[in-house]
Amino acid sequence: MAEVVIVESADAAGDIAASLIEKLVTRRADAVLGVATGSTPLSTYRALAAKRLDLRRVRAFALDEYVGLEPGHPESYHAVIDREMTVPLGLDPSLVRVPGDGLTRRADAAALDRAGEEYERAIAAAGGIDLQILGIGATGHIGFNEPGSSLASRTRVKTLMRQTRLDNARFFASIDDVPRHCITQGLGTILEARQLVLLAFGEHKAEAVAAALEGPVSASAPGSVVQLHPRVTAIVDEAAASRLRFAAYYRDAWENALR
Ligand code: GLP
Repeated sequence: MAEVVIVESADAAGDIAASLIEKLVTRRADAVLGVATGSTPLSTYRALAAKRLDLRRVRAFALDEYVGLEPGHPESYHAVIDREMTVPLGLDPSLVRVPGDGLTRRADAAALDRAGEEYERAIAAAGGIDLQILGIGATGHIGFNEPGSSLASRTRVKTLMRQTRLDNARFFASIDDVPRHCITQGLGTILEARQLVLLAFGEHKAEAVAAALEGPVSASAPGSVVQLHPRVTAIVDEAAASRLRFAAYYRDAWENALR
C-alpha cells in the first residue's frame, strides 16, 4: 500500500518530499530524479533549494513536454524545469533531460516516436530513475497520461483532454494557445522508478486522489497505477484528502509509524 501523508499545507508537503530527496542524494550524489512540472512540485523545489545541497552530479528526467511549441517557449516544460528547478537547485543543465528535446515545432509523428524511444533508452542508460516526483491532474493523469492510457505504456505522444488544456490555460494567453499534444513518460515507464512521491493539493484534486489511491486500478484513472508500485509516498493536503475513505487510518499510521 502507498504511505499516505496528510498535511496542512503545500509547504509542509514540500518539506517532507525534499527530505526524501535529501536522503537519496546524501546516499548517492549522482542519483537520478524524475521531475514534474505544474504548480504542485514547486514547494518541494523551494524546500530543496533551502537545504543548499550540492546537487551538481544529480541527473534528472522530466515526465513530459508539450508538442508544437517553439523551442525556448517560456511555457515549454524544458523552460519551466530550467527556471523552477535546474537553476535554483544548482543542477548541471547537461544532466537534465526533457522528452522530445531538440525537436522542432513541426516534428512529425515518426520523429516523435523516435524521440520517445530515445528517451526510454536514455533513462535505461542512466540506470533508471531512483525517485519520481508526481503531481496529478484533475482528469486523473500522471505525467500527461490521460484516461485510457495503457498501464504498460512507454514514452510516447498523447492527445491532451480539453479539461487539461483548460486547467493549463492559466499559463498561456488562452486555451487556444495550449498545445493539443504532448510527449510523456508512459505509466509503465513511471512504474519502473524505484520510488514514487505523489503530491496533490486542493479540493479540485480530491476526486482524482481518491481514485488514484483507493479506486480500482484502471486505465480510466491513470493515477491508480501507483497501486501497483511497492514504494509510494503520497503527500496530500486536507482538501485533496477530503474524499479519502481511509483518511483516519492514514493519519494514525503516519503518527505512529515505526521509525
Ligand atoms: C500538468 C503536468 C503534470 C502535473 C499535472 C498537475 O499538466 N503535465 O505532470 O502533475 O498537470 O498540474 P498542477 O500541479 O499545476 O496542478
